[in-house]
Amino acid sequence: MQMNTHYQDLKESYLFTDIAKRIRAFQEKHPDRDIIRMGIGDVTLPLPASCVSAMQEAAAEQGTQTGFHGYGPEQGYAFLREALAERYAKKGVTLQPNEIFISDGAKSDLGNLLDLFGKENTVVVPDPVYPVYVDTNIMAGRKIVYCNATKENGFLPLPDESCRGDLYYLCSPNNPTGAVYTKEGLKAWVDFALENDGVILFDAAYGSFITDSDLPASIYEIEGAEKCAIEVCSFSKMAGFTGTRCGWTVVPEALCRQGMSLNRMWLRRQTTKFNGVSYVVQKGAAAAFTPEGEKEMQANLAYYRENAVLLAELLKKKNIFFTGGAHSPYLWFKAPAGLSGWELFDRLLEEAGVVGTPGEGFGENGSGFFRLTAFSTHEKTAEAVKRLDALTWFHG
Ligand code: MLT
Repeated sequence: MQMNTHYQDLKESYLFTDIAKRIRAFQEKHPDRDIIRMGIGDVTLPLPASCVSAMQEAAAEQGTQTGFHGYGPEQGYAFLREALAERYAKKGVTLQPNEIFISDGAKSDLGNLLDLFGKENTVVVPDPVYPVYVDTNIMAGRKIVYCNATKENGFLPLPDESCRGDLYYLCSPNNPTGAVYTKEGLKAWVDFALENDGVILFDAAYGSFITDSDLPASIYEIEGAEKCAIEVCSFSKMAGFTGTRCGWTVVPEALCRQGMSLNRMWLRRQTTKFNGVSYVVQKGAAAAFTPEGEKEMQANLAYYRENAVLLAELLKKKNIFFTGGAHSPYLWFKAPAGLSGWELFDRLLEEAGVVGTPGEGFGENGSGFFRLTAFSTHEKTAEAVKRLDALTWFHG
């Protein structure tokens, strides 16, 4: 028996599992404390009503002889892939529906896509980084090169010789820092990947938070990206599907390496290992793009943006350096009083009952930083702001 011993190279538990464990322990000790959770980026508003009605109708169809659907197409129903292609077209990006694959969310595909690439490839990730990119590659034993995202470069590193590899992970708007690449910034990465025969895995899960049309919400807004990038996206943060599960991945026809089409490979992989997302859920997701669904979805996004503004105003008032908060549901800030991220985590939990995510959980460069999410309710966000405002030591 040979086990995958690379699992021994992982930290004992996944970041958000670790945080949940710490909160549970705190709550057991202090059952009466009212805790405001702004740690994991999970949405709090209910699904858009249009998505709910569409899923109810689809569930009813499944109970009829004529409307019943068994196994669906592994790459997703045409109605959803076509709706997504139309949505991209509105941004000036031309995609064929067969370049879009429906998934059960960005996280699964970010891991699953690695099936297409040899284990000997070098992977380039920014530091700090969403831990999934790192852990999935540690599991496969790949070499990881870190590209420094720092206060000095606004947490938006650009490519250079120190971060050359085969696979490049980019996330913009970024998790955890909330920083957003301009078109010029993304173009530098696209050009670098093209020159080096690399492939970019672009995580666009937070693209719907962008309100400035000059900022790219999709990597395909950059010329040449269809020859070097796969884009992974999700209905989770956009339409509240964190618990419903639906996402999509774009693998362009033009993306080929070693004479192999990555689109064909991904189709082959999905038809072998995946039976698709349920009909009911895909109907719900497609309803987010109807005029009514779009209105409801945008209202929810606007609600979270208002929370982000409240948090950003507090950090400005306290003279604390931060990134994000605009075009992003995340606020990433320097821990006050020289605290480490984990020390700040403990003090905020103890003294304010507010939970965030310590920067160390996202990598070495996250040390001494902290992330809050804007996904809470208005009431809880306002209460958290009040509690943080009252802490005498909470300032820059
Ligand atoms: C986060 O808090 O970073 C996200 O919720 C994680 C995720 O989307 O899987």
